[in-house]
Amino acid sequence: MSHAAAIVVAAGSGTRLGAGRPKAFVALAGRPMVAWSLDAIAAAGVPRAIVAVPPGHGAVAEEALGAAAGDFPLGLAFVEGGAVRSASVRNALAAAGDAECLVVHDAARPFAPPELFAATLEALADADAAIAAARATDTIKEAGADGIVVRTLDRERLWAIQTPQAFRAAVLHRALEAGADVLAQATDDAWLVERTGGTVCVVESSPANFKVTTPHDLRVADSLLC
Ligand code: CTP
Ligand code: MG
Repeated sequence: MSHAAAIVVAAGSGTRLGAGRPKAFVALAGRPMVAWSLDAIAAAGVPRAIVAVPPGHGAVAEEALGAAAGDFPLGLAFVEGGAVRSASVRNALAAAGDAECLVVHDAARPFAPPELFAATLEALADADAAIAAARATDTIKEAGADGIVVRTLDRERLWAIQTPQAFRAAVLHRALEAGADVLAQATDDAWLVERTGGTVCVVESSPANFKVTTPHDLRVADSLLC
């Protein structure tokens, strides 16, 4: 894995959490939320990590997370994030050096285990991108704006998409060349690869790798870690 680097997107404001500071730096079981992801990435043996932080938070990040630099033989860097998630990924990618594979992860998913980072990177042997995903457990229906159900989808083929998401470096570079309007639409990076014709495969994960979005999620996350 010496040719891999991790990109951790931590530049969001955390509006839905409403904690009064950027979500990635909110305390989770006594540590900044993003610190849990950095632990897992280092434990997976990824030698370099680039963290996209909110504009003006470089010094805060260095202070809160700088000690983790010792866990990354090829370095831990902080860059300024962008206005939308994919712009944050793009800014971090510019600091990724010559890594052949990138694994992108949301700071808001503190429960991704080291094995999941390794599994997505390994799956790049057979695809341009490999993304963590949990099998759908609810029945999913499509409804119109009027609330009337249009169809019921085949649950066997549905996946709830998470991060980490691993990419061949050239593929991610090309995907992120999209215009600002396209980047703003992207809720994950794999979609940017799909729309340019790349092969994306799912790597089965667990619903335990949930995203901390609301105050309820933070309470659940805290209780799982304390
Ligand atoms: N993110 C980012 N840069 C942005 C927006 C989001 O790096 N401009 C990151 C967040 O820090 C988070 C991940 O993308 O780790 C997933 O986004 P989300 O859960 O939506 O986090 P926020 O955008 O911070 O939350 P909200 O949408 O409630 O404001
Ligand atoms: Mg957001």
